[in-house]
Amino acid sequence: MSDRKTKTICFTNNKGGSGKSTSCANLGYELAKAGKKVLLIDGDMQLNLSLSFFDEEKVLEMAECEANLYYAIRAKKDLLDYVVSTPYENLDLIPSSTLMSQIEYELFTMIQREYVLKKCLKSIYESEKYDYVLIDAPPTLGTWVINILCTADYVIVPVEASPWGLFGLANMFDFLNGMEEMTEAQIMGVLITKVDERKNYYKQTREILDAYEDIYVFDTFIHVDSSIEWAQDNSVPVAVYKKSTRSTKEYCELAKEVMNYGSR
Ligand SMILES: Nc1ncnc2c1ncn2[C@@H]1O[C@H](COP(=O)(O)OP(=O)(O)O)[C@@H](O)[C@H]1O
Ligand SMILES: [Mg+2]
Repeated sequence: MSDRKTKTICFTNNKGGSGKSTSCANLGYELAKAGKKVLLIDGDMQLNLSLSFFDEEKVLEMAECEANLYYAIRAKKDLLDYVVSTPYENLDLIPSSTLMSQIEYELFTMIQREYVLKKCLKSIYESEKYDYVLIDAPPTLGTWVINILCTADYVIVPVEASPWGLFGLANMFDFLNGMEEMTEAQIMGVLITKVDERKNYYKQTREILDAYEDIYVFDTFIHVDSSIEWAQDNSVPVAVYKKSTRSTKEYCELAKEVMNYGSR
Protein backbone atom coordinates (compact mmCIF):
# COMPACT_ATOMS: atom_id res chain seq x y z
CA MET A 1 0.00 0.00 0.00
CA SER A 2 1.23 3.51 -0.79
CA ASP A 3 1.89 6.11 1.91
CA ARG A 4 -0.32 8.64 0.12
CA LYS A 5 -2.95 10.37 2.24
CA THR A 6 -5.53 9.66 -0.45
CA LYS A 7 -6.61 6.04 -0.53
CA THR A 8 -7.67 4.71 -3.91
CA ILE A 9 -10.22 1.93 -4.03
CA CYS A 10 -11.28 0.32 -7.28
CA PHE A 11 -14.29 -1.86 -7.98
CA THR A 12 -13.37 -4.76 -10.20
CA ASN A 13 -14.94 -7.97 -11.35
CA ASN A 14 -14.70 -9.11 -14.93
CA LYS A 15 -18.26 -10.30 -14.63
CA GLY A 16 -20.76 -7.62 -15.64
CA GLY A 17 -23.85 -6.98 -13.53
CA SER A 18 -22.17 -7.82 -10.23
CA GLY A 19 -22.88 -4.42 -8.68
CA LYS A 20 -19.61 -2.55 -9.31
CA SER A 21 -21.12 0.74 -10.47
CA THR A 22 -23.97 0.63 -7.94
CA SER A 23 -21.58 -0.05 -5.07
CA CYS A 24 -19.03 2.53 -6.20
CA ALA A 25 -21.71 5.24 -6.41
CA ASN A 26 -23.46 4.45 -3.14
CA LEU A 27 -20.33 3.78 -1.10
CA GLY A 28 -18.91 7.05 -2.47
CA TYR A 29 -22.04 8.91 -1.40
CA GLU A 30 -21.97 7.39 2.11
CA LEU A 31 -18.25 8.15 2.61
CA ALA A 32 -18.90 11.75 1.55
CA LYS A 33 -21.89 11.96 3.88
CA ALA A 34 -19.64 10.77 6.70
CA GLY A 35 -17.44 13.81 6.03
CA LYS A 36 -14.76 12.23 3.85
CA LYS A 37 -13.67 14.03 0.69
CA VAL A 38 -14.35 11.67 -2.18
CA LEU A 39 -13.49 11.68 -5.88
CA LEU A 40 -15.31 9.19 -8.08
CA ILE A 41 -13.78 8.19 -11.41
CA ASP A 42 -16.06 6.70 -14.03
CA GLY A 43 -13.76 4.25 -15.80
CA ASP A 44 -16.42 2.53 -17.88
CA MET A 45 -17.78 3.45 -21.29
CA GLN A 46 -21.25 2.46 -20.02
CA LEU A 47 -21.22 5.76 -18.04
CA ASN A 48 -23.17 4.11 -15.20
CA LEU A 49 -21.28 5.88 -12.43
CA SER A 50 -21.88 9.28 -14.05
CA LEU A 51 -25.56 8.36 -14.57
CA SER A 52 -25.84 7.67 -10.84
CA PHE A 53 -25.46 11.43 -10.18
CA PHE A 54 -26.49 13.26 -13.35
CA ASP A 55 -29.36 12.84 -15.79
CA GLU A 56 -28.79 11.30 -19.20
CA GLU A 57 -28.73 14.62 -21.01
CA LYS A 58 -25.96 16.00 -18.79
CA VAL A 59 -23.97 12.72 -18.91
CA LEU A 60 -24.09 12.65 -22.71
CA GLU A 61 -23.09 16.29 -22.82
CA MET A 62 -20.04 15.52 -20.64
CA ALA A 63 -19.28 12.43 -22.73
CA GLU A 64 -19.41 14.37 -25.97
CA CYS A 65 -17.22 17.29 -24.96
CA GLU A 66 -13.49 16.85 -24.39
CA ALA A 67 -13.56 17.35 -20.63
CA ASN A 68 -13.70 13.68 -19.76
CA LEU A 69 -11.51 10.77 -18.79
CA TYR A 70 -10.98 9.50 -22.33
CA TYR A 71 -9.40 12.71 -23.60
CA ALA A 72 -7.39 13.14 -20.41
CA ILE A 73 -5.86 9.67 -20.68
CA ARG A 74 -5.31 9.93 -24.40
CA ALA A 75 -3.35 13.17 -24.03
CA LYS A 76 -1.88 12.27 -20.60
CA LYS A 77 -3.41 15.36 -18.97
CA ASP A 78 -3.57 16.31 -15.32
CA LEU A 79 -6.88 14.88 -14.06
CA LEU A 80 -7.26 17.67 -11.51
CA ASP A 81 -8.52 19.78 -14.42
CA TYR A 82 -11.24 17.24 -15.23
CA VAL A 83 -13.02 17.18 -11.88
CA VAL A 84 -16.74 18.00 -11.86
CA SER A 85 -18.72 18.73 -8.66
CA THR A 86 -21.72 16.52 -7.99
CA PRO A 87 -24.84 17.97 -6.32
CA TYR A 88 -23.54 16.55 -3.02
CA GLU A 89 -21.06 17.99 -0.55
CA ASN A 90 -17.59 16.38 -0.48
CA LEU A 91 -18.34 14.36 -3.61
CA ASP A 92 -16.70 15.02 -6.99
CA LEU A 93 -16.62 13.05 -10.24
CA ILE A 94 -14.43 12.62 -13.27
CA PRO A 95 -16.89 11.74 -16.04
CA SER A 96 -16.39 9.13 -18.70
CA SER A 97 -17.06 8.86 -22.42
CA THR A 98 -18.43 6.15 -24.67
CA LEU A 99 -15.07 6.54 -26.45
CA MET A 100 -13.56 4.63 -23.53
CA SER A 101 -14.32 1.65 -25.79
CA GLN A 102 -11.17 2.70 -27.68
CA ILE A 103 -8.92 3.20 -24.68
CA GLU A 104 -7.11 -0.14 -25.11
CA TYR A 105 -6.09 0.96 -28.59
CA GLU A 106 -4.94 4.39 -27.34
CA LEU A 107 -2.85 2.86 -24.56
CA PHE A 108 -1.25 0.28 -26.80
CA THR A 109 1.45 2.52 -28.23
CA MET A 110 2.14 4.50 -25.06
CA ILE A 111 5.37 4.14 -23.13
CA GLN A 112 4.80 2.57 -19.69
CA ARG A 113 1.24 2.05 -20.74
CA GLU A 114 0.18 0.43 -17.47
CA TYR A 115 0.91 3.60 -15.47
CA VAL A 116 -0.79 6.32 -17.52
CA LEU A 117 -3.75 6.73 -15.12
CA LYS A 118 -1.43 6.81 -12.10
CA LYS A 119 0.62 9.60 -13.70
CA CYS A 120 -2.50 11.56 -14.63
CA LEU A 121 -3.57 11.36 -10.95
CA LYS A 122 -0.23 12.63 -9.63
CA SER A 123 -1.33 16.18 -8.80
CA ILE A 124 -4.62 14.93 -7.34
CA TYR A 125 -2.59 12.81 -4.94
CA GLU A 126 -0.12 15.61 -4.24
CA SER A 127 -2.92 18.08 -3.54
CA GLU A 128 -4.18 15.77 -0.73
CA LYS A 129 -7.61 17.17 -1.51
CA TYR A 130 -9.33 13.80 -1.23
CA ASP A 131 -9.50 11.10 1.42
CA TYR A 132 -10.73 8.56 -1.11
CA VAL A 133 -10.60 8.10 -4.86
CA LEU A 134 -13.11 5.44 -5.94
CA ILE A 135 -12.74 4.03 -9.45
CA ASP A 136 -15.48 2.12 -11.25
CA ALA A 137 -13.83 -0.38 -13.62
CA PRO A 138 -15.37 -1.98 -16.71
CA PRO A 139 -16.00 -5.75 -16.76
CA THR A 140 -12.74 -6.52 -18.60
CA LEU A 141 -9.20 -7.47 -17.65
CA GLY A 142 -7.16 -5.53 -20.22
CA THR A 143 -4.54 -2.78 -20.09
CA TRP A 144 -7.06 -0.18 -18.93
CA VAL A 145 -8.09 -2.25 -15.91
CA ILE A 146 -4.38 -2.88 -15.25
CA ASN A 147 -3.98 0.94 -15.21
CA ILE A 148 -6.75 1.14 -12.61
CA LEU A 149 -5.15 -1.59 -10.50
CA CYS A 150 -1.71 0.04 -10.79
CA THR A 151 -2.95 3.19 -9.08
CA ALA A 152 -5.21 1.45 -6.54
CA ASP A 153 -4.38 0.76 -2.92
CA TYR A 154 -7.38 -1.48 -2.49
CA VAL A 155 -9.75 -3.55 -4.57
CA ILE A 156 -13.37 -4.24 -3.67
CA VAL A 157 -14.81 -7.16 -5.61
CA PRO A 158 -18.62 -7.10 -5.78
CA VAL A 159 -20.06 -10.57 -6.33
CA GLU A 160 -23.70 -11.27 -7.06
CA ALA A 161 -25.34 -13.93 -4.89
CA SER A 162 -26.51 -16.02 -7.85
CA PRO A 163 -25.70 -19.41 -9.39
CA TRP A 164 -23.17 -17.83 -11.78
CA GLY A 165 -22.03 -15.04 -9.49
CA LEU A 166 -18.75 -16.75 -8.63
CA PHE A 167 -18.03 -17.87 -12.16
CA GLY A 168 -14.62 -16.64 -13.29
CA LEU A 169 -13.74 -15.27 -9.84
CA ALA A 170 -10.78 -17.63 -9.40
CA ASN A 171 -9.40 -16.33 -12.71
CA MET A 172 -9.71 -12.80 -11.44
CA PHE A 173 -7.88 -13.59 -8.20
CA ASP A 174 -5.13 -15.25 -10.28
CA PHE A 175 -4.99 -12.16 -12.48
CA LEU A 176 -4.56 -9.93 -9.41
CA ASN A 177 -1.90 -12.22 -7.95
CA GLY A 178 -0.08 -12.17 -11.29
CA MET A 179 0.15 -8.37 -11.00
CA GLU A 180 1.98 -8.47 -7.69
CA GLU A 181 5.13 -6.87 -9.07
CA MET A 182 3.27 -4.02 -10.77
CA THR A 183 0.91 -2.90 -8.06
CA GLU A 184 0.65 -2.72 -4.32
CA ALA A 185 -3.14 -3.04 -4.51
CA GLN A 186 -4.62 -5.44 -1.99
CA ILE A 187 -8.06 -6.96 -2.04
CA MET A 188 -9.91 -5.09 0.71
CA GLY A 189 -12.81 -7.47 0.46
CA VAL A 190 -15.47 -9.22 -1.52
CA LEU A 191 -18.90 -7.60 -1.28
CA ILE A 192 -21.85 -9.91 -1.78
CA THR A 193 -24.62 -8.07 -3.63
CA LYS A 194 -28.21 -8.61 -4.77
CA VAL A 195 -29.00 -11.03 -1.97
CA ASP A 196 -32.52 -12.42 -2.22
CA GLU A 197 -33.62 -14.12 0.97
CA ARG A 198 -36.20 -16.24 -0.81
CA LYS A 199 -33.31 -18.08 -2.46
CA ASN A 200 -30.36 -19.66 -0.69
CA TYR A 201 -27.57 -18.37 -2.95
CA TYR A 202 -26.27 -16.03 -0.24
CA LYS A 203 -25.34 -18.95 2.01
CA GLN A 204 -23.81 -20.88 -0.87
CA THR A 205 -21.84 -17.87 -2.05
CA ARG A 206 -20.47 -17.05 1.39
CA GLU A 207 -19.48 -20.67 2.04
CA ILE A 208 -17.51 -20.84 -1.18
CA LEU A 209 -15.86 -17.46 -0.56
CA ASP A 210 -14.99 -18.39 3.03
CA ALA A 211 -12.93 -21.26 1.63
CA TYR A 212 -10.47 -18.68 0.22
CA GLU A 213 -8.45 -18.26 3.39
CA ASP A 214 -6.69 -15.06 2.42
CA ILE A 215 -9.73 -13.24 1.03
CA TYR A 216 -11.87 -11.14 3.35
CA VAL A 217 -15.61 -11.09 2.77
CA PHE A 218 -17.30 -7.95 4.11
CA ASP A 219 -19.69 -8.60 6.98
CA THR A 220 -22.05 -6.19 5.26
CA PHE A 221 -23.85 -7.50 2.23
CA ILE A 222 -26.41 -5.87 -0.01
CA HIS A 223 -29.94 -7.20 -0.47
CA VAL A 224 -31.88 -7.01 -3.69
CA ASP A 225 -33.74 -3.74 -3.36
CA SER A 226 -35.93 -2.22 -6.05
CA SER A 227 -35.20 1.25 -4.61
CA ILE A 228 -31.72 0.90 -6.13
CA GLU A 229 -33.18 0.77 -9.61
CA TRP A 230 -35.64 3.58 -8.88
CA ALA A 231 -32.81 5.69 -7.56
CA GLN A 232 -30.73 5.01 -10.69
CA ASP A 233 -33.72 5.88 -12.82
CA ASN A 234 -33.79 9.24 -11.04
CA SER A 235 -29.98 9.74 -11.16
CA VAL A 236 -29.64 9.89 -7.39
CA PRO A 237 -27.96 7.70 -4.74
CA VAL A 238 -30.33 5.28 -3.07
CA ALA A 239 -30.02 7.19 0.24
CA VAL A 240 -31.37 10.31 -1.46
CA TYR A 241 -34.15 8.36 -3.14
CA LYS A 242 -35.28 6.55 0.03
CA LYS A 243 -33.46 7.08 3.30
CA SER A 244 -35.25 4.24 5.10
CA THR A 245 -34.76 1.50 2.51
CA ARG A 246 -32.68 -1.56 3.34
CA SER A 247 -29.86 -0.97 0.86
CA THR A 248 -29.37 2.62 2.12
CA LYS A 249 -28.61 1.22 5.56
CA GLU A 250 -26.40 -1.48 4.08
CA TYR A 251 -24.25 0.94 2.07
CA CYS A 252 -23.97 3.10 5.20
CA GLU A 253 -22.70 0.05 7.12
CA LEU A 254 -20.30 -0.77 4.30
CA ALA A 255 -18.87 2.76 4.51
CA LYS A 256 -18.18 2.18 8.21
CA GLU A 257 -16.37 -1.08 7.41
CA VAL A 258 -14.29 0.69 4.76
CA MET A 259 -13.42 3.63 7.05
CA ASN A 260 -12.42 1.18 9.80
CA TYR A 261 -10.31 -0.89 7.45
CA GLY A 262 -6.87 -1.30 8.91
CA SER A 263 -8.16 -1.41 12.47
CA ARG A 264 -9.88 -4.74 12.11
N1 LIG B 1 -28.92 -4.43 -4.55
C1 LIG B 1 -29.52 -4.36 -5.75
N2 LIG B 1 -30.85 -4.57 -5.85
C2 LIG B 1 -31.47 -4.51 -7.05
N3 LIG B 1 -30.85 -4.25 -8.20
C3 LIG B 1 -29.51 -4.03 -8.17
C4 LIG B 1 -28.78 -4.07 -6.96
N4 LIG B 1 -27.47 -3.81 -7.23
C5 LIG B 1 -27.40 -3.62 -8.56
N5 LIG B 1 -28.61 -3.75 -9.14
C6 LIG B 1 -28.95 -3.67 -10.56
O1 LIG B 1 -28.21 -4.66 -11.23
C7 LIG B 1 -27.69 -4.18 -12.45
C8 LIG B 1 -26.18 -4.33 -12.48
O2 LIG B 1 -25.60 -3.54 -11.46
P1 LIG B 1 -24.30 -2.68 -11.77
O3 LIG B 1 -23.94 -1.96 -10.53
O4 LIG B 1 -24.50 -1.86 -13.01
O5 LIG B 1 -23.23 -3.83 -12.06
P2 LIG B 1 -21.82 -3.77 -12.81
O6 LIG B 1 -21.33 -2.36 -12.71
O7 LIG B 1 -20.97 -4.75 -12.08
O8 LIG B 1 -22.06 -4.19 -14.22
C9 LIG B 1 -28.17 -2.74 -12.58
O9 LIG B 1 -29.28 -2.72 -13.42
C10 LIG B 1 -28.57 -2.34 -11.17
O10 LIG B 1 -29.67 -1.49 -11.18
MG1 LIG C 1 -20.71 -1.07 -14.20
